[in-house]
Amino acid sequence: MDAADISEDLAHVLLSSDQVHERVCELAEQIDADYAGRDLLMVGVLNGAMMVMSDLTRAMKSHCRIDWMAISSYGSGTKSSGVVRILKDLTTDITGLNVLIVEDIIDTGLTLSYLIQNLRSREPASIEVMTMFRKPDAITSAVEARYVGFDIPTEFVVGYGLDYDGRYRNLTDVATLAPHVYS
Ligand code: IMP
Ligand code: MG
Repeated sequence: MDAADISEDLAHVLLSSDQVHERVCELAEQIDADYAGRDLLMVGVLNGAMMVMSDLTRAMKSHCRIDWMAISSYGSGTKSSGVVRILKDLTTDITGLNVLIVEDIIDTGLTLSYLIQNLRSREPASIEVMTMFRKPDAITSAVEARYVGFDIPTEFVVGYGLDYDGRYRNLTDVATLAPHVYS
């Protein structure tokens, strides 16, 4: 569904699906160039990264492998709890591999810094981060993303994989929610 289908639920459309798609293609080109001649394992963080992983890997022109992790972060609210738990681990042994973590969004960076620390202990050859969206607070956190789709304001957004209480992941655009949705 797109923003027009659920306009009564939305306050403001930040990015259209076309804008997102165009940026994903630019990042795919960069990743292709940076990893040329090297094996690459893309590690997606479920469930938010499903859309970006799907679009990014298909826009790439070289091979990659894909694996997934699921970690708990937000529960059903809109504030980071700081509690991180692995719900589903990788099936791949990443020792000696070039790993690119694919994230939907970095807000506080808490989830990602835990994840990087965890994966680093498994001794991959390299570990980098790609995130589709990044909020200002993330810039002051210790997490450094090599590839960033868009820097966005500190607002709760949905769409392109991002949910509120499990919904809106299949919204093709990226938008903020109308106040009545929260009540
Ligand atoms: P962090 O630990 O604060 O960086 O939050 C990371 C996770 O919280 C992301 O991977 C998302 O799943 C979720 N999250 C953060 N901000 C938003 C948002 O604006 N909309 C939907 N989910 C979000
Ligand atoms: Mg996430």
